[in-house]
Amino acid sequence: MESELNATVLARELVSETVFLLRVKPDESDPPRFLPGQFVQAGVPIQTLAKDGSGVMRLRLQKRSYSLASAPGDPKGYELCLALVDQGRLTPALHKLEAGARLYLDTRPLGRFTLEGLPPERDLVLVATGTGVAPYVAMRRAYAGKSRWRRMVIVHGVRQVADLVYRKELEEAARKDPAFVYLPIVSREKDPARWSGLAGRVHQMLEAKRMKELAQLEFTPKSASVLLCGNPAMIDEARTLLESRGFALDTPERIGGLRFERYW
Ligand SMILES: Cc1cc2nc3c(=O)[nH]c(=O)nc-3n(C[C@H](O)[C@H](O)[C@H](O)COP(=O)(O)OP(=O)(O)OC[C@H]3O[C@@H](n4cnc5c(N)ncnc54)[C@H](O)[C@@H]3O)c2cc1C
Ligand SMILES: NC(=O)c1ccc[n+]([C@@H]2O[C@H](COP(=O)([O-])OP(=O)(O)OC[C@H]3O[C@@H](n4cnc5c(N)ncnc54)[C@H](OP(=O)(O)O)[C@@H]3O)[C@@H](O)[C@H]2O)c1
Repeated sequence: MESELNATVLARELVSETVFLLRVKPDESDPPRFLPGQFVQAGVPIQTLAKDGSGVMRLRLQKRSYSLASAPGDPKGYELCLALVDQGRLTPALHKLEAGARLYLDTRPLGRFTLEGLPPERDLVLVATGTGVAPYVAMRRAYAGKSRWRRMVIVHGVRQVADLVYRKELEEAARKDPAFVYLPIVSREKDPARWSGLAGRVHQMLEAKRMKELAQLEFTPKSASVLLCGNPAMIDEARTLLESRGFALDTPERIGGLRFERYW
């Protein structure tokens, strides 16, 4: 089991009660390049009850998928952005990892939730709930200032304002970069002293009028692509809404303006 642990935690940052960041470095001296939006499987040994009903505890390498929030080639290794799930099988163990801890990491990042095939003259509306913002952070870190899009908008929906991981980085980017718009939206913050910004769920932002007003873009499948990431119920609802407005899933032959990544 120890021999399967091929990476080291460089740093852990607790962002809120449930959101945390892990900086992890694979042992490989030259880890493979990846495309922003791709993910790796990460894991640690977890004690589980043997399936034969004997009551014996066994150690098993429990793995889950995590989007890479760092840009490809970052010398500080990979950044993972995680939610601590109540009663989750893996995340309570990952939450306990501190600098120096060993873990398993896939040697090859995977996934098609990338900007591949999208021409640079499109507007991107990147919609996330919770830690689903991670792939968009990687895309912005990798491509900002490189004319990879006309305008990039990140719509990030969370329960509490403290869960707005990357808020500082994205607010600063929006101040400096006229081609980037950051729209955080919070669903459960009651205290106006803590949050006076957009309140509710991400769907409220998917209106042509609101996009025009807040991000100065034409919200049509002809010129804009929408990416959806995170909570699967959000994805299903947003997809239905957007399909009724003419958006369709991208295929190798046609850009329909819609892509998604379900986290569960
Ligand atoms: C391609 C892909 C990329 C992913 N990237 C990330 C990522 O970057 N960050 C991340 O935190 N998770 C990510 N996930 C989810 C992750 O793989 C695990 O499902 C999650 O960490 C829970 O694992 P667990 O063993 O603790 O929970 P489990 O015991 O497996 O329980 C699963 C339950 O946890 C809840 N859940 C799972 N993921 C989340 C989440 N992100 N936020 C809130 N609730 C959740 C759901 O209710 C789900 O039914 C990704 C999943 C996929 C398929
Ligand atoms: N973040 C917390 O304060 C908190 C507290 C206790 C436990 N947890 C646990 O932490 C884990 C992570 O939770 P999370 O808050 O990061 O993720 P989450 O439950 O997916 O919530 C993130 C955001 O997505 C919204 N959302 C949920 N369903 C949606 C839908 N169908 N359409 C559009 N938006 C939708 C939520 O709004 P709503 O608020 O309206 O649902 C919230 O704004 C979960 O396992 C949870 O049990 C979190």
